[in-house]
Order: sequence, then C-alpha cells, then structure tokens
Amino acid sequence: MPSFTVNGQPQRVDVESDTPLLWVVRDELKLKGTKFGCGLAQCGACTVHMDGQPIRSCVTPVAAVEGREITTIEGIKPQNGEYHVLQQAWIDEQVPQCGYCQSGQIMSAAALLSNNTNPNDADIDAAMSGNVCRCGMYDRIKKAIKLAASRLGSDPAPLGDSSEQELQNG
Ligand code: FES
Ligand code: FES
Repeated sequence: MPSFTVNGQPQRVDVESDTPLLWVVRDELKLKGTKFGCGLAQCGACTVHMDGQPIRSCVTPVAAVEGREITTIEGIKPQNGEYHVLQQAWIDEQVPQCGYCQSGQIMSAAALLSNNTNPNDADIDAAMSGNVCRCGMYDRIKKAIKLAASRLGSDPAPLGDSSEQELQNG
C-alpha cells in the first residue's frame, strides 16, 4: 500500500504496486487535470512532478513513488488572488486551443522555470520536447514561457499553496 504526498497532502492508496501513477491520481484521488494521451511516455499529457522533476505518470508504477512528493496540475494554483504566473502567461498568449495537452505542458514549463529562471530557445526546446500539442501551439507555448520568466525575474517558478486542490480538477 504505497504512501506518498500529492500537492502536499499525505496519501496512501490500496492498489496493485504496478498500477500507473496516472490512474492513481485520476481514479483514486479524483484529480482529473492530469490527462491520458498515449500511455507510452511519448506525448507528455500525463506529466506530473516527482520531487520537483517532471515524470510521465502513465509509465510510472505507483510503487516507484513511495515516500516521494508528487505535484499535479492541481498544485499549480492562483496566489494572492491572482492567477499563477504560468496560468496568466498561458492566458495572455492564448495558448490553449482544445486544451488537452496543456496540463502536461504547464507541468513541464513549471519544472523548467523552477530550475532555470531565464531559459533561452534551446533550453525551452529541450525541456518541452517531450510534450506533444496536436493543435500545434508550440510557438505560443514558447512565448508564454518567456513571458512568465520575464515576470518572475530571478525568482524560480512557485508551485503555489498546496492547501487547495480544486483548481483545474475537471
Ligand atoms: S499519456 Fe503519458 S506520455 Fe502520453
Ligand atoms: S491545445 Fe490541443 S493538443 Fe495542445
């Protein structure tokens, strides 16, 4: 019965140890913001963070996250009554079209900006290369990451207050 934290909350789930983390997050914890795309670690729709690093939850057995800190898109939330810097940049650059890939895109972008406060094009391409957008919003994603980085200045991207888990849970 693996135990770990999700968005700061301790969790203990009664599932088989080889159950993909994606299904634990979506079906057991009812955090529906993380999406299923390919199930093969090829599209990035299922991206979450494990100890701050992006992972593909569709191919991560829940046993592998024992004792780890997991952050999902629900951990990216407004702060001080305003949208998270990545959310606002995504809105300002009108990134989402169908929106299906965007949870994973934002999680990869958040990991990038928490490690690199001034990414160049090559940095962004490297960090985002595993996230597929079938609507082709790659240029807008890049602009939004740069906009968020400019607004953050030298501050790493925050992941928000983990006491709330409702945002983008649908
Ligand atoms: S659903 Fe996990 S990478 Fe595509
Ligand atoms: S916005 Fe439609 S797949 Fe990316």
